[in-house]
Amino acid sequence: MTERQPKPIQRPDLGGPFPEHVAIIMDGNGRWAQRRALRRVLGHKEGIASVREITTSCAEMGVKSLTLYAFSVENWKRPRAEIRFLMGLLEEFMVAERPTLMDNDVRLACIGRLDDLPEASLRALRETEELTASNRGMTLRLALSYGSRSEIADGVRRIAEDARAGRLDPADVDEETLRGYLYDPDTPDPDLLIRTAGEMRISNFLLWQISYAEFYVADVCWPEFRRPQLMEALRAYASRQRKFGGLIQDAPDEAPASKKAERTA
Ligand code: IPE
Ligand code: IPE
Ligand code: MG
Repeated sequence: MTERQPKPIQRPDLGGPFPEHVAIIMDGNGRWAQRRALRRVLGHKEGIASVREITTSCAEMGVKSLTLYAFSVENWKRPRAEIRFLMGLLEEFMVAERPTLMDNDVRLACIGRLDDLPEASLRALRETEELTASNRGMTLRLALSYGSRSEIADGVRRIAEDARAGRLDPADVDEETLRGYLYDPDTPDPDLLIRTAGEMRISNFLLWQISYAEFYVADVCWPEFRRPQLMEALRAYASRQRKFGGLIQDAPDEAPASKKAERTA
């Protein structure tokens, strides 16, 4: 049997940095459908085509991690029929997308309270995770029954349990400790966070991890967010200056803090 050759990466030159980890709040499926006098659920169905196009585009361009917010813990409040449709779609997606994931060397992973999902969806998801486990091109991470506050609360509870059992000294708890108790501690934080449908809020997504992500809001609804819209977001990212609270390296006034103190003394 011949080894599958990974496809060469085609990274576009957008005149600036390129994100390693892109996270997306896929919003506006319902509105997309309603504007066309269709049932809301048809917007979710159309949204799958965007998931496929954005996943393959990101993999082709050499994004290392793509995290998609697919279903929040709060989304369980929606009508039963919509939830049933979404879970059915998830199960279908898990089976239908296997060849695309394999062709593009994409590994599937999931974060969230996955035990809340219906058994059939969870089984399909685990099988796809297993099938794609050794793919190395990009990780597609689906956030399902995900809530950032519950992720942090679950982590803090486990920290408290470990401290009580003597496995952890409370004096040693720092930011890295807490990170280690989140769902996916080994993945670097998102560099770019995109939200569609023009909404300017986080809706309980990756609160810890997006501390320094660059935020980009696209006006189009998720079913219309395709490769050209992704390129716009990547172009916007390339033009940002990330300072992480510090200063830009080549800023004109770059005397070290101690020198500045001397000058003003
Ligand atoms: C995003 O689209 C998909 C999910 C949250 C599952 P919405 O269903 O939220 O669509 P709008 O925001 O109502 O238009
Ligand atoms: C956020 O979208 C959740 C997902 C995209 C899965 P929502 O449509 O649920 O968020 P709100 O209710 O508008 O904040
Ligand atoms: Mg919405």
